[in-house]
Amino acid sequence: MSAHPVQSIVPETGAFLPHSHFWTGEAFAQERERVFGRCWLYMGVFEDTNVLTAEMAGLRFELRRQGEAMDGVCRDGEQVRPLQIDRCGALVFARVAQDGGPTLADHLAPYGERLATMSANCLNPQAPVGIAFQANWKALVENTMDDFHGSTVHPDTIHPAVHPDWQSHLVTERHGANSDSRWLLADGTAGWWAKLDAKLRMRRFAEEPFYRHTFIFPNFYLATFYGATVIPHRVDPVAPDSSVLRWQLFLPTTRLETAREQAFHRSTATYLIQSAGTVIAEDCPVCEAVQQGRPGIADLPHITGIYGRRERRILDFHQAMLRQLGETE
Ligand SMILES: [Fe+2]
Repeated sequence: MSAHPVQSIVPETGAFLPHSHFWTGEAFAQERERVFGRCWLYMGVFEDTNVLTAEMAGLRFELRRQGEAMDGVCRDGEQVRPLQIDRCGALVFARVAQDGGPTLADHLAPYGERLATMSANCLNPQAPVGIAFQANWKALVENTMDDFHGSTVHPDTIHPAVHPDWQSHLVTERHGANSDSRWLLADGTAGWWAKLDAKLRMRRFAEEPFYRHTFIFPNFYLATFYGATVIPHRVDPVAPDSSVLRWQLFLPTTRLETAREQAFHRSTATYLIQSAGTVIAEDCPVCEAVQQGRPGIADLPHITGIYGRRERRILDFHQAMLRQLGETE
């Protein structure tokens, strides 16, 4: 028996985005303007570069750094609009320039401070990775927020890496559009990280034996392991039914002196990138199957699923999208 009472939520009509938002060109165009043309969006880290670019829903973001100054534009066909750029620690965010709207600190609340602390570990950058999904970007966001799929979708990867009693050792926090969840690592996994730490003397932002990810609306999450490794992720919409998951691994060390240490760091980073790739390859067919199945329930608007206590943040995301799209006030 679970220690927690089951509290399932059957959402009311209107609490969800219409199903069609997952495949129509109209919904995609609306999101391009009202979500990606307005919100603060994660752009990357100026770690070993002075230029950052991103493409989301047909909008092209171009940022430059010159000394301490940052500037940039958003290109949409012929239209070129200036960007407002701000940082949270090392993490660079931008949005199409506008009057009013939340500051970056407001947008990240209540996680700004923690993200800034974690971003100090954006050291030793590895090559960015992009993996294409034949699914709407929101299907990937929902997948990320589904804390329950570890045992079913990742039985040989994530599931054995986290504490078997996840009912007690999974902590999910909800704060409106943003949220955080963390799993206690299994003893064996925590031991593996401790050995790695002894060899690499990793930089740690916290002494925490967790796998954690912090989601920031609309399409950013920062995954971390052991209070050391940080992996910023962003889901870039490409078309109504396709998207790219982009991520970059940082394996921060406090000292990399000898060739042997450097070689060990390189091989560990390669191993972690391969492991993350394996996990994402397990998520991909699930998201793609959801994408293909979704129109099949379009004629059944009352079918919205039943959500458990820890799955409320998927509903939170839908409601944040509805607010951003201006469909509810
Ligand atoms: Fe997954």
